[in-house]
Amino acid sequence: DAAQPFHGPRQAGVLAEPARHSVVAAFDVIAESRAELTELLRTLTSRARFLTAGGAPAALGITGPPADSGVLGPEVPGGAVSVLAGAGASLFDERFGLAARKPPKLKQMPAFPDDALDPQWCHGDLSLVLNAAEPDIVLHGLRDLARATRGGMQLRWKIDGFSSPPRPSGTPRNLLGFKDGTANPSPSEADSLVWTGEGGSYQVIRLIRMLVEFWDRVSLAEQENMIGRRRDTGAPLDGAAEQDAPRYGEDPVGTVIPLTSHIRLANPRTPGTDGDRVLRRSVNYDRGVDTNGNLDMGLVFACYQRDPERQFETVQRRLAGEPLTDYVSPFGGGYFHLFPGVRDPADHYGRALL
Ligand code: HEM
Repeated sequence: DAAQPFHGPRQAGVLAEPARHSVVAAFDVIAESRAELTELLRTLTSRARFLTAGGAPAALGITGPPADSGVLGPEVPGGAVSVLAGAGASLFDERFGLAARKPPKLKQMPAFPDDALDPQWCHGDLSLVLNAAEPDIVLHGLRDLARATRGGMQLRWKIDGFSSPPRPSGTPRNLLGFKDGTANPSPSEADSLVWTGEGGSYQVIRLIRMLVEFWDRVSLAEQENMIGRRRDTGAPLDGAAEQDAPRYGEDPVGTVIPLTSHIRLANPRTPGTDGDRVLRRSVNYDRGVDTNGNLDMGLVFACYQRDPERQFETVQRRLAGEPLTDYVSPFGGGYFHLFPGVRDPADHYGRALL
């Protein structure tokens, strides 16, 4: 994992390859004034800066609690965690008088036709995504940030994510067994697809349960037709290698890659659809067992874009009713606006807003 510098015009973690471990969390702000909100964002920034840079936690007197959880030992390793911070539309309600500062494309995540949303797992005033190579590093980071901001914000929901090493090569797999992330835009397309002019980005998070027991009873050919790619190599059904581009023009009625397949609906590669693309950064989750004894696992789908309506929602609308919907169930998530990067030691998240 290459260490990401904390300071810069954009938050660095967005373009990074998926980390082995992550935590995705949303918070309700309980600060009661604009001044307290500013203080919260300053504190969040300085703790994120410290966690990213690493070092020895501050020494405290003998009677107070220690400066950090101790989970990582006496020194927090430098470059071990990356932090992404964003704001939800609700931060711009009447509480802080920020309505006029709301990022123009930010709104609350709507419910889509195949959704079964649980309000306890939706929305939030702030979002945090922490990524690291080890599970205790992300948990230490979350504890550190939550502790330093007590009184300013409170956890609303949180889910742990993980990503596998490539098996055997190429892109990591999701829990349906398919490589996930193959056809992402390249970093050179980020300016046109991912970043706003101010260096922010819109983050869409969708918590999507996979009905894996049901999926595991489907034939391989049917699974591959639902996705549009081979399970073993990740190649499109008309190709040989993972990175081969599907040639839909040569297959107008979907004989080889069905018209209803996930990849063909998501990105039909027809004129005018190029700008709908999003940068996906999804990870897997496991929440144990549900009350019926079924495995509760799935995908923390996350994507980044300049405009969630024009990009994510266009793709989502095309996917409505796809065959894959029988095997997945979106239950939560939210829309957030990632703050522009923290430029220097004097800057903080959301400074332009406050
Ligand atoms: C591609 C799985 C949800 C958008 C893919 C691929 C797989 C996959 C296996 C092919 C490999 C790749 O290019 O990454 C899933 C699963 C989902 C899910 C299992 C739910 C649990 C979504 C959602 C969206 C989405 C909610 C957006 C609304 C896309 C896009 C592509 C893609 C844009 C790339 C298509 C292309 O450019 O060829 N997905 N996906 N997916 N998916 Fe999903």
